[in-house]
Amino acid sequence: MSHNSDAPVEPITIPVLQRWKEEGRRITMTTAYDAVTARIADPVVDIILVGDSVGNVCLGFDDTLPVSMAMMNHHLEAVARTKPRALLVADMPFLSFHLSPEETIRNAGGLLQRGADAVKLEGGSRRAGMVRALVDCEIPVMGHIGLTPQSVNVMGGFKVQGRTTDDALRLLDDADHLQDAGCFALVLEGVPAELAARATETLTIPTIGIGAGPDCSGQVLVFHDVLGLTLGHRPKFVRAYANGFALLQQALSHWAADVRQAAFPTHQQSYRLPDGLRDTIANWTPSSST
Ligand code: KIV
Repeated sequence: MSHNSDAPVEPITIPVLQRWKEEGRRITMTTAYDAVTARIADPVVDIILVGDSVGNVCLGFDDTLPVSMAMMNHHLEAVARTKPRALLVADMPFLSFHLSPEETIRNAGGLLQRGADAVKLEGGSRRAGMVRALVDCEIPVMGHIGLTPQSVNVMGGFKVQGRTTDDALRLLDDADHLQDAGCFALVLEGVPAELAARATETLTIPTIGIGAGPDCSGQVLVFHDVLGLTLGHRPKFVRAYANGFALLQQALSHWAADVRQAAFPTHQQSYRLPDGLRDTIANWTPSSST
């Protein structure tokens, strides 16, 4: 499983994910925004997403809307330098795929040139034209429907989608149109489990759920949520597998206490002079005192 082992590591590609969908093998995806998180995640998961959630998780914004292409490029480059074997997907941020096909293709192409294997963009049938334009340029696209965080203002908050007949049927139509437009996979976020199950059953491409119940082809959770590194309100769909925030803070406090008590560093963490030099140093006096 590790990059350091001699065992060959199979890179995860889009055909591999398609085969897994057909075999019913579950797909795992998490986020990474820098080289450290990428190195932790890569031996474990199948897909690494450089998500625009970097905005609220790491950059201190309230939502993903302020995230720019420059920010995405910066974080993607850090992750791509680790050369992950996982499929590397980069999010297209708000307004980077809305204005014209030319601008959309240039932005998405730039992500691929920086090391992404594919891009992800939010939105339903209305985005099918842009998806087609990208796929025509050999840019693989992962769709993302349901509770799409870039639509927070339209939705009136981060609310579960697809709970009325019209909404549920529209979401199934959206999924179908995005597959038809050429998406290789679809993130289903914040939708009732039954709806996600029906989409997964009818689509031939894999679905990746987040707050979409257990019957998707795979699951995605934000890295910092899985490890308990986020503070504040925890959505119902998150299960933290560690209390990372407290754990890391405890370790840091331990170090700070050691420094204050002169228990760190010891000789073990210090460099020493060669024997002959010790006397020279001991006999040295500042020239200002002579
Ligand atoms: O930006 C992100 O992290 C995402 C996932 C939650 C799917 O889009």
